[in-house]
Amino acid sequence: MQLLNTLLLALSIATTSVRAQDDLDSTYGGVDNTTLWVNAIVGESGASTVECWGIQPPFVVSTQPGTVGNKILQLGQLANASYTQFPPGVITDSGLHNAPNAQWVVLLAGQGNINFPDSPSTPNLTVNAGEILIAVDTPGTSDVGHRSVWNGGTIALQLPFEPGFVPAHKTVKGACPKQDA
Ligand SMILES: *[C@@H]1O[C@H](CO)[C@@H](O)[C@H](O)[C@H]1NC(C)=O
Ligand SMILES: *[C@@H]1O[C@H](CO)[C@@H](O)[C@H](O)[C@H]1NC(C)=O
Ligand SMILES: *[C@@H]1O[C@H](CO)[C@@H](O)[C@H](O)[C@H]1NC(C)=O
Repeated sequence: MQLLNTLLLALSIATTSVRAQDDLDSTYGGVDNTTLWVNAIVGESGASTVECWGIQPPFVVSTQPGTVGNKILQLGQLANASYTQFPPGVITDSGLHNAPNAQWVVLLAGQGNINFPDSPSTPNLTVNAGEILIAVDTPGTSDVGHRSVWNGGTIALQLPFEPGFVPAHKTVKGACPKQDA
């Protein structure tokens, strides 16, 4: 019994120290049920690129009627919201642009391909229906911004933050790993 306890203790210490070292790796990519990781289009040294942000504060267990007991996360201080429909049957190339505001973008339907001509090492970012991302490469942070190309029938919500607000976050360079990878 004592041997077993000692072994269990040793195991838990070993596990804890691995966790401490690799905190990010172990929480990254949805293993940690308390963090929402999203792609963020950011302006860095005058060029747009992608980071993976772990939004803070993290998920909590809801006490709100209708969602009681489920995971809930606040999206922060929002200024307003818009709903955009791209025409069906044709591809819409929105060209190079900066994020009009620091904002959430939620894809309700369709698909987009976002590319970063000024950051040749940043791969195209494919955004699928059901995804949420952040765009903060506003004018002044990125010279030319990013280019977005939307499939026919894409529907997007844009939720700008209140001026000056950006959610607190943990940052990992590069895009988030694909959920279904
Ligand atoms: C995360 O999972 C743990 C263990 O299953 C659970 O106790 C906790 O409430 C969960 N947290 C959230 C925010 O869902
Ligand atoms: C929405 O809020 C953003 C950020 O404050 C602002 O720049 C924009 O003009 C607002 N749009 C409308 C239609 O009110
Ligand atoms: C990236 O996007 C551009 C513009 O839509 C497209 O021409 C190019 O083929 C894409 N590259 C990859 C690897 O998907």
